[in-house]
Amino acid sequence: MVVNIMTNASHNTSIFALSKKSKKICVIGGSGFVGTALINRLSREKHQVKVFTRRKERAKHLRMLPGVTICSVDYYAAKVLERQFDGYDIIINLAGILNPQGAISFKQVHLVLTQRLLEAASAVGITRFIHMSALNAGDKASDYLMSKGHGQEAVHKIAKMKVTTFCPSIIYGKNDQFFNRFATLIQLPGIMPLIGAKARFAPIYVEDVVSAIINSLGNHETYGNNYALCGPKVYTLHELVNYTAKMLEQQKTIFPMNWLLSGLFTRLLSILPIKPITVDNLRSMKLPSFSEHPIAKELGVTPVSIESVLPWYLGSNEKNLLNDRYRDIAQ
Ligand SMILES: NC(=O)c1ccc[n+]([C@@H]2O[C@H](COP(=O)([O-])OP(=O)(O)OC[C@H]3O[C@@H](n4cnc5c(N)ncnc54)[C@H](OP(=O)(O)O)[C@@H]3O)[C@@H](O)[C@H]2O)c1
Repeated sequence: MVVNIMTNASHNTSIFALSKKSKKICVIGGSGFVGTALINRLSREKHQVKVFTRRKERAKHLRMLPGVTICSVDYYAAKVLERQFDGYDIIINLAGILNPQGAISFKQVHLVLTQRLLEAASAVGITRFIHMSALNAGDKASDYLMSKGHGQEAVHKIAKMKVTTFCPSIIYGKNDQFFNRFATLIQLPGIMPLIGAKARFAPIYVEDVVSAIINSLGNHETYGNNYALCGPKVYTLHELVNYTAKMLEQQKTIFPMNWLLSGLFTRLLSILPIKPITVDNLRSMKLPSFSEHPIAKELGVTPVSIESVLPWYLGSNEKNLLNDRYRDIAQ
């Protein structure tokens, strides 16, 4: 199993690595979960990477990587982005939020920031733009998805730009916010009520997402296209949480809520200062998060199954820690 994952990640990369020249790449939102995995791979593949963040502190775990510089910016200050982008070949935009944060709205991050990046990239003659959207982007059911759709449209509208946009289902990996959060909840005492138990996802491993992005960098076939990024199998949320409990060797009583109960419960939770789930999150969960074509052939990725990855990083038993060490050494 260990060998399987390592060879898969390196296999997906190496097909294209041979034909790749070192590129100068700006990554916006590179400090986050996907960004961290991406920057590590770009650095290993000898690209020169500038990671953009609002606070340098957020990206400090990346600063020792060869070829990587961290740049903290005010995205809206006049000419700042233009100066920072000048001389670079490619922009990768990973900035995104799942919930509005104070004065920062979905529109601000998913549309206005994207437009600002496109404007600055165009001003300095950068013509390659890769953008992370989400599956079901543009669906009116949720503000998050609507704003993701508007951002995606803005990217594809720029005629002179060679753009590729990606729409993933849930992305998982060692430091994800999905399985790790359920792993924590499962270990709390008592019955676990499960909101949105019937939601359906095709989770994709973060290293497969990274491979898809890297394999698209100079791949002309991907220009102008929008791609779904999904794992090989569809699961309900209930199945995923049960599987997480199994990985943790926990006998957990889970109470799966139907959509009606989920809605009522979510509204009740909305009065709490910290909301584990919002009404908007629930609306997006109601849409099937999978695709008939999990990953397009030209992206050169064979997605791994959660069964071959999750045992690596869930739990803290000796076997997992040992696997972690093997993996870190292999990377
Ligand atoms: N993880 C998933 O399951 C999943 C599924 C579908 C789509 N996506 C999309 O994939 C992308 C990466 O996701 P992720 O899981 O890596 O997210 P993450 O860990 O939350 O990272 C998000 C990044 O966005 C940046 N960001 C947040 N608010 C910003 C703002 N107001 N202005 C500028 N930058 C801002 C952050 O940068 P700083 O704080 O350093 O500035 C951070 O590096 C996002 O666009 C997300 O919507 C993720």
